[in-house]
Amino acid sequence: MSINKEIKRITTNTLQKMKAAGEKITMLTAYDFSFAKIIDGAGIDVILVGDSASNVMAGNETTLPITMDQMIYHAQSVIRGIDRCLVVVDMPFGSYQSNSDIALASAIRIMKETGGHSVKMEGGEEVVDAIKRIVSAGIPVMGHLGLTPQSIYKFGTYTVRAKEEDEANKLRKDAKLLEEAGCFAIVLEKIPAALAKEVSQSLSIPTIGIGAGMDCDGQVLVMHDMLGINTEFKPRFLRQYLNIHEQATRAVQQYIKDVKSKDFPNTSEQY
Ligand code: KIV
Repeated sequence: MSINKEIKRITTNTLQKMKAAGEKITMLTAYDFSFAKIIDGAGIDVILVGDSASNVMAGNETTLPITMDQMIYHAQSVIRGIDRCLVVVDMPFGSYQSNSDIALASAIRIMKETGGHSVKMEGGEEVVDAIKRIVSAGIPVMGHLGLTPQSIYKFGTYTVRAKEEDEANKLRKDAKLLEEAGCFAIVLEKIPAALAKEVSQSLSIPTIGIGAGMDCDGQVLVMHDMLGINTEFKPRFLRQYLNIHEQATRAVQQYIKDVKSKDFPNTSEQY
């Protein structure tokens, strides 16, 4: 029997038990009430209210422009749609990098105003003090290492990170620091599978991979990519389970045709 099926509400402890039992953790992003309801109802373990909302909901090129108010709006909508999964809310760019007082105030605001269950922050050593303050205030923190999109202008490209030994060593060290700081899990984004395996085995907390291979303790995808709502983004790591873009286009074209041809509405579709 899977741990997911036995449990009424998923908590950070449930994820820890899943890692110990070798049961993979499932995570998807969501940004609104209706999709959160579908994803939670389908039995997901974790919903991430990702700052990828900046890309897939608002159409920005990067995650940098999304504001705290916008993240709070998305998280509040998601929370209204779920009964059971754990909800992690991304701390937006600028809400935690400057100092640990600001980081703590931002995390408290997210928890108070959204009803979310935890926050996620990108980075290693640079954000460890902030993570410690937030965790000591009783707020669970998920870390995020590897390709951290809020630093895209530092990286200059979205290619695989930590291929070189220096960067791989920093990632190994950062993962340990995040674990010691009290993170309950760490997202590993777009790093070599062998490095993700080694890091996952070296930590007692779960790793959640995206483009980080099969040996992470769980997997996360952006909902718009896996459902094929967004069709321009096709990295190697993405498995697309639906093509909503194609199906929705066909449905809209049929609707246009039906209205233009006076087929819709018919006599049974009126009062
Ligand atoms: O914002 C997001 O969607 C993320 C995932 C890619 C992990 O951080």
